[in-house]
Amino acid sequence: MRPRPWFKKGRLLAATGLVIVCAFPAFSGQPCAGCHPKEVQGFLATPMAHSMGPPGRGPSGTFYHSVSGTRFTIRSSTDHMTQRMERDGLASQYPIAYSVGSGAHAVAYLIQVGNHLFESPLSYYAAFGWGMSPGYENLKAPDFYRAVRPQCLFCHVGEALPIAGTLNAYRNPPFAAEAITCERCHGPATAHLRNPVPGSIINPAKLPSRARDSVCEQCHLSGEVGIPNPGKQITDFHAGENLEDVYTVYVYESSRGAAHPNALTIISQSQQLALSECARKSGDKLWCGTCHDPHALPKDPVAYFRARCLQCHGAALLASHPKPNQNCFGCHMPRLPAGRGGHTIFTDHRIAIYTARELAELRAASLLNGSAPATNDDELVPWHNPPSQFAERNLGLAYARVGGQLESFPFVRRGYQLLLSASNDFPNDPVLLRAMGKIISGTKAEADAEALFDKALAVEPNSALVYDDMAFAAENAGDNESAIKYLEKTLQLDALLVAPYEHLARLYAANHQLALAHQTYVRFLKAFPGNIEAKRDVLRSSDDFHTDNAKPDAPPSRP
Ligand code: HEC
Ligand code: HEC
Ligand code: HEC
Ligand code: HEC
Ligand code: HEC
Ligand code: HEC
Ligand code: HEC
Repeated sequence: MRPRPWFKKGRLLAATGLVIVCAFPAFSGQPCAGCHPKEVQGFLATPMAHSMGPPGRGPSGTFYHSVSGTRFTIRSSTDHMTQRMERDGLASQYPIAYSVGSGAHAVAYLIQVGNHLFESPLSYYAAFGWGMSPGYENLKAPDFYRAVRPQCLFCHVGEALPIAGTLNAYRNPPFAAEAITCERCHGPATAHLRNPVPGSIINPAKLPSRARDSVCEQCHLSGEVGIPNPGKQITDFHAGENLEDVYTVYVYESSRGAAHPNALTIISQSQQLALSECARKSGDKLWCGTCHDPHALPKDPVAYFRARCLQCHGAALLASHPKPNQNCFGCHMPRLPAGRGGHTIFTDHRIAIYTARELAELRAASLLNGSAPATNDDELVPWHNPPSQFAERNLGLAYARVGGQLESFPFVRRGYQLLLSASNDFPNDPVLLRAMGKIISGTKAEADAEALFDKALAVEPNSALVYDDMAFAAENAGDNESAIKYLEKTLQLDALLVAPYEHLARLYAANHQLALAHQTYVRFLKAFPGNIEAKRDVLRSSDDFHTDNAKPDAPPSRP
């Protein structure tokens, strides 16, 4: 049986089959509902108004991940869910704290450990049910490892409350508003509530085109990377601003070329639309709002979107256009599988004429993972230019970040050169200092890396993340003693980071300090009582430790 999508026609379907309409303390439409009932009712029936919510979105069931030999058992009721994991005779059970996604395509799940949020390795897909979350498919030991950063929540939550300078720590409760709210597109409402007249609140349709487009781009354009301007976070963006006043999105130069041979990636509707002849030939007239009303889902999509197309294309076209020509988007905006999309299918917003052969090629290309550059001389370019004084710095950070992800030496080198050249203008920019420090810590210039991290620490004295970087730099330089010291400091500042425990235990073991390695795993398990690898590590390291006590000169049995 084909599982039902979790979100259908404006209603969320509960695990029991009961229909719940906003039964959770999500956005209720207050204080706008009294004066704008139509917009509020309409918006509440869209997936965007359910972009985040309580656990329980998804049915009870089981899933077996053969790559890792993990069996998952999901128990779900209206507002509770537990996900149980079993592997190699070890088991753990996690209570889910939040669901991400309405379920129109998929639902991801978050757990909360202390004040930190982590993503489940398991997702629910409308098309086929339970499966691994994107990126977890080939992991040998999946667990709730993936830290949920503020950037992820920026697109899915009304307002998240991250603690500055941490990886994934949030205030309590972590969200001021769970699902997307009116303010994300209309900006702050205080002035309007005091004086409710036209012009006292942002109407996206009346903004200059760049600010107008930025309203949707904040969440519908992910690009390869987004780089905040100095002193800013991505989450500082508010409707009414131009995106690049806060951060610059970088895309591949090749993705700006002819639409046809390129794969479709998710969260790129803004980029796709800009490639269409419709957008290129109609100046700034065409934008998301030409076809989509965020406060209403079309009842009859074929007729609704046809009317949007015909606003511009008109009756003359219909006279000459081959028949049938009812479902305009069915032919010109095909649904395609999306690279990096985690088994989902999206509408191609490049609006074009495709032959059957081109369509087949496009489908095949889109199935491939679209995160690598298309050619060897592909470049990263800003979607829109940042203020010129930040151009070199932001581009350098973009190359460094993407180069790091792809392990591309040419990209990393390019990033370093740009950052070096920009560094005189930004002597105390912790982001630039850390990025340069990370790059050169892999080379022979350990002392230079250390100097950069020291400068970053002078600006952000208690940053667990800088100490973690310093540990890697020290280890690269062959100085395990310092690396251990920095990792201890990292965990002292933030005891709920996963990777530093395993890193630290490995270094202790390499130093033949097996008792300390064992103790580190015990601390890891204490911080993350559910983690199966932590349980296994404690058991194994305990064996090592005891074997080692019996034979003091034995080499460590763990690498
Ligand atoms: C006390 C009644 C009242 C409340 C409460 C109220 N509005 Fe309005 N709003 C108005 C009036 C009156 C107008 C102007 C006439 C119109 O467009 O309907 C308006 C206009 C608007 C416009 C169009 C502005 C323009 O310049 O085109 C937007 C957008 C808007 N409101 C959003 C909101 C949002 C979001 C909220 C909740 C945070 C809200 N309003 C709360 C009465 C109210
Ligand atoms: C705060 C982030 C955010 C902003 C701003 C935003 N979107 Fe969305 N949008 C999303 C997310 C997340 C989803 C997927 C919701 C889900 O299914 O969980 C989505 C889904 C949609 C959908 C498909 C389903 C639906 O709800 O109709 C459309 C169409 C859409 N957005 C259009 C727009 C347009 C047009 C704008 C600008 C006027 C916009 N969005 C602004 C985050 C955003
Ligand atoms: C740049 C904004 C952005 C970021 C960052 C982002 N998403 Fe999304 N996500 C979207 C949008 C927009 C959609 C709707 C699909 C689309 O339009 O491509 C979506 C769709 C989804 C869906 C499917 C919802 C549905 O339509 O049923 C899930 C689940 C999801 N995202 C989870 C996550 C998680 C978890 C993270 C962080 C680790 C994340 N996303 C990061 C914007 C974003
Ligand atoms: C995803 C973005 C988005 C969200 C969320 C959103 N709106 Fe809007 N809103 C728009 C856009 C775009 C327009 C302009 C529509 C147009 O005129 O084309 C608009 C227009 C309006 C108007 C003016 C309507 C008119 O006839 O001129 C009101 C009132 C309004 N919104 C209220 C709300 C309220 C209340 C909420 C929250 C329940 C809300 N909106 C949520 C994007 C959004
Ligand atoms: C804002 C106006 C506008 C809207 C709305 C619009 N288009 Fe276009 N479209 C244009 C313009 C301008 C061109 C350039 C050629 C021309 O002048 O006809 C174009 C070109 C095209 C082409 C030819 C593309 C090519 O590669 O040669 C197709 C197909 C097309 N549009 C389909 C659609 C469909 C389908 C819709 C609705 C989903 C739509 N358009 C909505 C303005 C628009
Ligand atoms: C020319 C008309 C048109 C424009 C302009 C347009 N869209 Fe769409 N959009 C569509 C159609 C048609 C669908 C498919 C509707 C369906 O399947 O029922 C769609 C679907 C979507 C979806 C649902 C997920 C998916 O991919 O199927 C999202 C999200 C979305 N659009 C966002 C946007 C954003 C953001 C913009 C502006 C960058 C935008 N759209 C501009 C016509 C348009
Ligand atoms: C069954 C598939 C199909 C449907 C439905 C369809 N088209 Fe087309 N369309 C095509 C094909 C194929 C061509 C190329 C025709 C040719 O080269 O003679 C085309 C060409 C076009 C062109 C460029 C032709 C020109 O004269 O400039 C536009 C614009 C266009 N379509 C818009 C639309 C609109 C708007 C709708 C809905 C009212 C629509 N199409 C419905 C398949 C379709």
